[in-house]
Amino acid sequence: MTSTAADLIAGISDPLAAVLAEQRWFAGKDRPIRAVIPVRATDLAGSDPRLIHAVVEVDQGESPRDRYQLLLGVRSDLPEFLGHAWVAACGDQAVYQAVHDPELTAVLLESIAHGVEVAGLRFATEPGVALDTEQRSRPVGAEQSNTSLVYGQTYILKLFRKLAIGRSPDLELHRALAAVGCEHIAAPLGSIEGWLGAEPVTYGMLSEFLRSAVEGWAMATASVRDLLGESLLIERAPGPAKPNDPADAGGDFAAEAHRLGHAVAAVHADLATALGASRASPGYLDTLATGMQRRLDSVASQVPELAPHVDALRAAFNEVREIDSPVRLQRIHGDLHLGQVLRTVTRWVLIDFEGEPMVPLAERTAPASTLRDVAGMLRSFDYAAHHVPLGDTDPELHAAAALAWTTRNQDAFCDGYAQVAPDPRKDAALLRAFELDKAVYEVSYEHAHRPAWLPIPLAAIARLTH
Ligand SMILES: Nc1ncnc2c1ncn2[C@@H]1O[C@H](COP(=O)(O)OP(=O)(O)O)[C@@H](O)[C@H]1O
Ligand SMILES: [Mg+2]
Repeated sequence: MTSTAADLIAGISDPLAAVLAEQRWFAGKDRPIRAVIPVRATDLAGSDPRLIHAVVEVDQGESPRDRYQLLLGVRSDLPEFLGHAWVAACGDQAVYQAVHDPELTAVLLESIAHGVEVAGLRFATEPGVALDTEQRSRPVGAEQSNTSLVYGQTYILKLFRKLAIGRSPDLELHRALAAVGCEHIAAPLGSIEGWLGAEPVTYGMLSEFLRSAVEGWAMATASVRDLLGESLLIERAPGPAKPNDPADAGGDFAAEAHRLGHAVAAVHADLATALGASRASPGYLDTLATGMQRRLDSVASQVPELAPHVDALRAAFNEVREIDSPVRLQRIHGDLHLGQVLRTVTRWVLIDFEGEPMVPLAERTAPASTLRDVAGMLRSFDYAAHHVPLGDTDPELHAAAALAWTTRNQDAFCDGYAQVAPDPRKDAALLRAFELDKAVYEVSYEHAHRPAWLPIPLAAIARLTH
C-alpha cells in the first residue's frame, strides 16, 4: 500500500537527519540532530516517480526549531545517475533528493507556468510572464545557502532551504525593483509561496538566467592573481624589489569596480523610489553605535587577538554618536559582497537580496543606511586581494601589492557610486564604523572557522583605526 507523504517522511527520520547534516545549506552543522519532524508534506506528482514537497522541523534541542524545505523523489528503480541523491529505502522503493531529477523538477516549472494551487502551495508566474516548460533543469554547481536549479539556459529557480516565516526579502525586493524598471537585477518570473500556520512563507523564486554572467568574485580574484603574477616576475628580476602598480597590471579591475559602484548606487536609488526613504530618528545613531559596541564586546571576550584594537574600535563607534549630518534610511541589499554580483556582457547585476541569513527577518527588512552595503563591498575587495594563496612570494611584497589593489578598487567603486548618489566617503565616520563593524564580525567568523585568515580583518582594523 502506498503511504501518505507525511507517513513516508516520518518513517525515514533517521536517514533524513544524516543527509541533512551533510548539506551545504544546513545551518545547524555544529549541533547534533535529535529528530526530523514533518510539518507538512504534499504530493506534487505521479506515483513512480513520485514527487513530494515537504517542510520538516529539525530538533536540535532549541526553540524555535529551524525549518527546512525538502523535495523528495520516490522511485522503485533508481537510475544510476541519481545514485548520489539517495536518501533512504522505503519498502522496496528508493527515496532521494528530487532536485537532481530533471523529470521531477519539470513539474515545478510546469506548476509555476500553469498557476497550480495545491494544499496551500501557490505556484505562479509574475504578471504577464509566459514560460517555456520544455526546459530541463540541473542544479547550479556551487551550492550556497539555498538550492538553485537552472532550466536550460533560460531560467533559474532558487529553492529556499532554511525557511524564514514571512515573505522573503529576495522576492519582495526583486518585485519592487522590477516594478520601477531597475536594470541591475535578473527579472523575476515566478514564485512558489504558501502558508505555515498563519504566516506567509516563500519557497521559491524563478528568475531570468543570465547565461553570460560571471561572478564578481571570480573576476576580482583573477585580477589579483594577475597582479601578483606580475609582481613575482618583477621580484625575480635583478635590482631592488618593489611591488607592481595595479594600474599597470594587465588584468586591472578598476574600470569594472567603477561600473559596479555606479550599479550599486542605481539599485539603491531604485529601492528608495520603489519603497521609500526617510530621515533617521534622533535616537538612531545611538542605537546603532550601541549595537556595534555590544558586538565588539562579545567578540573581544572570545578572541584575544582583538584586544589591542578594542579601545580604538570603541572610540570609532563612539564617533557615530557625534555625527550631526542627517542620515537617510531605506531598504538595502543587506549582504552585499563580490559573490552577490554578476557581470553580464552588458551590465552588473545584483543578486540574492535575502540579507544576512543568520539575522532575524524583522531586522533584515528594517530600513538601513545604504553605507552598510557600501561597507560590505569595500570589505569584499580587501578579501579578494588576500584570497589568492601566497605561494613563495615575499610576504611584504605580497601585502603591499594586495593593499595597492584594494585601495585602487575601493576608490574606483566609490567614484562610480558618487556618479549617481552622494559620495559615500563624505560620510567618513559612519562608513568607517560600518566597515569596522563588518571586520569585527569577520574576526569572530575567522576565529571560529578559518584561523589562518584572522590576519585579514585584523590588519584592516589596524589600518582603519590608526
Ligand atoms: N539570474 C542568475 N543568472 C545566472 N546565475 C545566477 C543567477 N542568480 C544566481 N546565480 C548563480 O547562483 C548562485 C547562487 O545564487 P544566490 O541567489 O546567491 O543563492 P544563495 O542564497 O544560495 O546564495 C550565484 O552565486 C550565481 O553564481
Ligand atoms: Mg548568495
